[in-house]
Amino acid sequence: MIIAIDGPAGVGKSSISKIIADKLGFYYLNSGEFYRAITYKILKLNSKDEPIDTLISIAYSCDIKIINNRIHLDGEDVQNFLHTPVLDLETSKISSIGKIRDFVNDLIYKITDSLNIVAEGRDMTTVVFPNAEYKFYLDAEPEIRAKRRYAQNNLAGYANDSMKTILNNLILRDKNDKNKKDGALKIAEDAVYIDTSYLTIDEVCEKVLSVIK
Ligand code: DC
Repeated sequence: MIIAIDGPAGVGKSSISKIIADKLGFYYLNSGEFYRAITYKILKLNSKDEPIDTLISIAYSCDIKIINNRIHLDGEDVQNFLHTPVLDLETSKISSIGKIRDFVNDLIYKITDSLNIVAEGRDMTTVVFPNAEYKFYLDAEPEIRAKRRYAQNNLAGYANDSMKTILNNLILRDKNDKNKKDGALKIAEDAVYIDTSYLTIDEVCEKVLSVIK
């Protein structure tokens, strides 16, 4: 069974998808981590301003594996390096390259094969798993998502960005993510829409689980 969950940055998709997967005993797949790992390699090689063909070949050279729920890139555990404000912004740009999306989607199909999964991202409900048994679109007001991200950054030790910078970056990422030629963030016609602005994580999980049951 496939449960697909999409929504904008900072909406709580990861926390919620993880809880749902745990409760159901399903495999949890965070598709954003693949785009982040590829972008990490591009930045590490100082190649972000190289032509698109170079970015694509760097992506295809990535050996990405998930071991114990952690992303390994070319044999190294890079999980701890994937959630920085710089990567947030750069990943949004890199993930707009169609051939890189093809690479990631093939990888996702290979990894998930015939598993029961909860897959989260931007195009899980539309492009990657259009036939998913259950589809959800989580949303929240940008100001509220910025507040959540600010608190998360503080916890993770990236407290340098002000709330205003975070909000501006979120708005920029929303714009990039919604206007991509391939895999743009949009609400699938058959997705259950949940506005999480004034709900706790537990309340959102309850709503999701009540639909599945
Ligand atoms: O979910 P996230 O914030 O970790 O995702 C990082 C970036 O990757 C985000 O800007 C959107 C992009 N992304 C995407 O284009 N398609 C997906 N399925 C998942 C993420």
